[in-house]
Amino acid sequence: MKKIEIAPSILSADFRILEREVKAAQDAGADRIHCDVMDGRFVPNISFGPLVVEAVKKCVSIPLDVHIMISDPVKYAADFCSAGADVLCFHAEALNNVNEIKTLLNDIRSKGARPGVAVNPDKSIDLFMSELASIDQVVIMSVYAGFGGQKFIVDTMEKVRAVRSAAVKQNLDIDIEVDGGVNGETAELCAKAGANVLVAGSFVFGSGDYAGRINAVRESANKAYIGD
Ligand code: DX5
Ligand code: ZN
Repeated sequence: MKKIEIAPSILSADFRILEREVKAAQDAGADRIHCDVMDGRFVPNISFGPLVVEAVKKCVSIPLDVHIMISDPVKYAADFCSAGADVLCFHAEALNNVNEIKTLLNDIRSKGARPGVAVNPDKSIDLFMSELASIDQVVIMSVYAGFGGQKFIVDTMEKVRAVRSAAVKQNLDIDIEVDGGVNGETAELCAKAGANVLVAGSFVFGSGDYAGRINAVRESANKAYIGD
């Protein structure tokens, strides 16, 4: 059974002291650092690009979980692999068809990162389910991509259940990550549905007690985790 992993998102960190922030998250027990890349086109917000990912990579030893919310992931995926992404997830709905998705997954893997696919709450997992065997991580967005601090959309857990059940049927070792609005209460719903990686941005970095918040997410998830 996969263990629950907690991935604090630096979107809610204090960028004046980013090195201290990511090191503190690592010391507080984070399993990964989640990097939210936004281009102002795919989502109505701009965050940061490969330079910041590269800088964060130099600060921590835990894996970087890079989530690219950009309209042209094909063009920029290689830059994020070079910057040190361990897992690189792009949005299925940013591409035109399943062949493009498949090609990009293979491309990311060939550049040394574990490839993943994300979907917004209003988009179907059918965009990529035929390619599950080539996907290392599915990211089910539990808020609309673009901003931290939004409210968790419970209905999205249906997609987590569907992906987990397909993965079990096909005997695939897939990480299912839930991203958005995860806290000490909603983590339980994610784990119950079959997720094993939980992103928590504002809940962790918006607090004065990173270890306390990471533990709260982990404990809530472990209460309900069904495994794979
Ligand atoms: C939303 C991002 C999330 C977000 C999580 O576009 O992908 O990773 O920052 O932040 P919280 O945990 O505050 O919802
Ligand atoms: Zn994210």
